[in-house]
Amino acid sequence: WERPDAKPIRQRLLVVANRLPVSAVRRGEDSWSLEISAGGLVSALLGVKEFEARWIGWAGVNVPDEVGQKALTKALAEKRCIPVFLDEEIVHQYYNGYCNNILWPLFHYLGLPQEDRLATTRSFQSQFAAYKKANQMFADVVNEHYEEGDVVWCHDYHLMFLPKCLKDYNSKMKVGWFLHTPFPSSEIHRTLPSRSELLHAVLAADLVGFHTYDYARHFVSACTRILGLEGTPEGVEDQGRLTRVAAFPIGIDSERFIRALEVHPVQEHIKELQERFAGRKVMLGVDRLDMIKGIPQKILAFEKFLEENPYWRDKVVLLQIAVPTRTDVPEYQKLTSQVHEIVGRINGRFGTLTAVPIHHLDRSLDFHALCALYAVTDVTLVTSLRDGMNLVSYEFVACQDSKKGVLILSEFAGAAQSLGAGAILVNPWNITEVASAIGQALNMPAEEREKRHRHNFEHVTTHTAQQWAEFFVSELNDTVIEAQQRIRK
Ligand code: G6P
Repeated sequence: WERPDAKPIRQRLLVVANRLPVSAVRRGEDSWSLEISAGGLVSALLGVKEFEARWIGWAGVNVPDEVGQKALTKALAEKRCIPVFLDEEIVHQYYNGYCNNILWPLFHYLGLPQEDRLATTRSFQSQFAAYKKANQMFADVVNEHYEEGDVVWCHDYHLMFLPKCLKDYNSKMKVGWFLHTPFPSSEIHRTLPSRSELLHAVLAADLVGFHTYDYARHFVSACTRILGLEGTPEGVEDQGRLTRVAAFPIGIDSERFIRALEVHPVQEHIKELQERFAGRKVMLGVDRLDMIKGIPQKILAFEKFLEENPYWRDKVVLLQIAVPTRTDVPEYQKLTSQVHEIVGRINGRFGTLTAVPIHHLDRSLDFHALCALYAVTDVTLVTSLRDGMNLVSYEFVACQDSKKGVLILSEFAGAAQSLGAGAILVNPWNITEVASAIGQALNMPAEEREKRHRHNFEHVTTHTAQQWAEFFVSELNDTVIEAQQRIRK
């Protein structure tokens, strides 16, 4: 993708993430159509205008044949994307297995899957081997495209091995790694059978970044307690070599959302939604259908609120957009059925012939529909059980400058540290507390809403994705220069 308003080229940035910012659909033997795909990282990096960025990642499809691979590579090149081709077996073991069935739940404090508790189980070992193999495949592609002076920015839990693979190729490569999830307490991380190998591999990077200071601190503690290395105010030291560790809280391209509210199709959507829900307050949830998002807990809290507040039963509606994700992982399949069961029960219990309290959609919305929905919402519920940052909360705030709706926000989302003063913070596990936060939000006087919104809007519009990326890359450049100076001395 190319931004029409891109500034002059400064430095080549190779952004390496598991997923490319486009999803590819095959239209014929050698023809593909490409669409921008959803996800926090994608929306964050859409805001970056300062670098000549190339993306390296998996296109999300299996392309076993050479003709298809060539055609896709060519189509992606126009969007400055470079594909890493992963076959079905690797995707199963690396992406569904080690990434999403082991690291993802562990990093969100949901523990390891029962059958994988022992390092000796075959599935754990083969998934870990596939993880390393996949990381090596990413490194091969990076190496092929790397030019001296490039900055290589590796992203997320899928690619913890990548810094090591890259430095093994070329110790002079500038390598940064950023984690978009929480990094858990070292006591959680130490349950992982491959705990040390992963930490060592990440430490090969020059700069390691997290969303919050707490996550950075957990990482440093894991390195000191598990590896016995020395933690310093700058990061982690291993035999005289320093890996810098710091917090870089992400943001969004807030202008993109604010501008969208002015365009005709969004205003039309807004009008339709206002008519559709006239006389009712609109509550909104927008989440990938993931166990970390606390969707069942949120819906149960809404049920409790309706149970205890009969007055509100026909005056409020909860719109839950649950975007299907990782649908080949059994835990996600179970969650879908569980959520459907709860929604059905509550709609049966409180619905009437003309209205239901919960509209649950198992799909994503296009950008304009999403902006319109954010704009008409009175209360947004972000009740993640754990979340690296959570950009839905930022997007909602960006779209609320005329309505000044209320954000109910989990204290376990990274965003609680930046939007905590404007939001109503809740413990998402405490359904009674969330139910009473719903009451507080719906009854909040306009003056208080205005004050809370002002705080959050100020933050969201001044801490953008673009600044985040620029800050990380300039820190990475500085870190490498400082390290070279230290060696010269
Ligand atoms: C989270 C992760 C991203 C990931 C996104 C979507 O935000 O931190 O790395 O891309 O979820 O998940 P998926 O598995 O569909 O890529």
